[in-house]
Amino acid sequence: MYLEVIDVKKSYGKGEGKQQVLKGASCSLDRGDMASIIGSSGGGKSTLLNCIGALEVIDEGDIRVDGNSIKGLSKKDLTKFRRDNIGYIFQFYNLLTNLNVRDNIRTGEKLTDQPMDYGKLIESLNLKNLEKKYPGQLSGGQQQRVAIARALIKNPKLLLCDEPTGALDSATAKETLVLLEKINAEFGTTILMVTHNQAIPAMMKKNFVMKDGRIIEQIINENPAPADTLEL
Ligand SMILES: Nc1ncnc2c1ncn2[C@@H]1O[C@H](COP(=O)(O)OP(=O)(O)O)[C@@H](O)[C@H]1O
Ligand SMILES: [Mg+2]
Repeated sequence: MYLEVIDVKKSYGKGEGKQQVLKGASCSLDRGDMASIIGSSGGGKSTLLNCIGALEVIDEGDIRVDGNSIKGLSKKDLTKFRRDNIGYIFQFYNLLTNLNVRDNIRTGEKLTDQPMDYGKLIESLNLKNLEKKYPGQLSGGQQQRVAIARALIKNPKLLLCDEPTGALDSATAKETLVLLEKINAEFGTTILMVTHNQAIPAMMKKNFVMKDGRIIEQIINENPAPADTLEL
């Protein structure tokens, strides 16, 4: 297994206010999988993704990416784990507003010894004519494309996406999904996406249904639908 999430537990807060958000969540992916975590709001999807991405410390259980475990890692080592293994895309892009597209993407390049080729990447993501623009001059879909390039240039083992189309209109959302599908096919990147859009699971090989802090069901698509056929 390329990603193993084993009985992960995670609480927020202390004493009276303590809330257990993850109550023993488990799932796994093979290398090159494209998968989603679905389920209603508040079920712990983002928390689980943040634990996998080493943005949060887990209380119990284990997470392994390509054999590398996060168990017992210090905050510093979690940062290194994230640098070495994870690319992250968020709903609201999180680009640096004072850097142009090229420099935004290149911030990701410095995080690794073996980056993807910048020229090839912007060609593939159709960003060549936007290189000199600043995030404020771009549409939402264009900004998300830049965020995807920034996450990808460091050649992550796992690309984590939290509601990447949540802020986009349906046509632009579809373009973004088509792009992620292409990245999965072209670069073999393993992708795990949190979404509450009920149309998206059709394009995924695996879907994990999350409810109340646990993965309660796994839905496998032997023949995932092409992203451009989805009714978003
Ligand atoms: N940083 C945090 N501090 C305290 N509570 C949090 C934090 N992040 C999430 N929660 C709580 O955890 C629960 C699950 O949230 P979340 O993982 O965002 O669910 P989902 O992504 O499925 O909507 C919610 O009740 C939320 O309020
Ligand atoms: Mg969420």
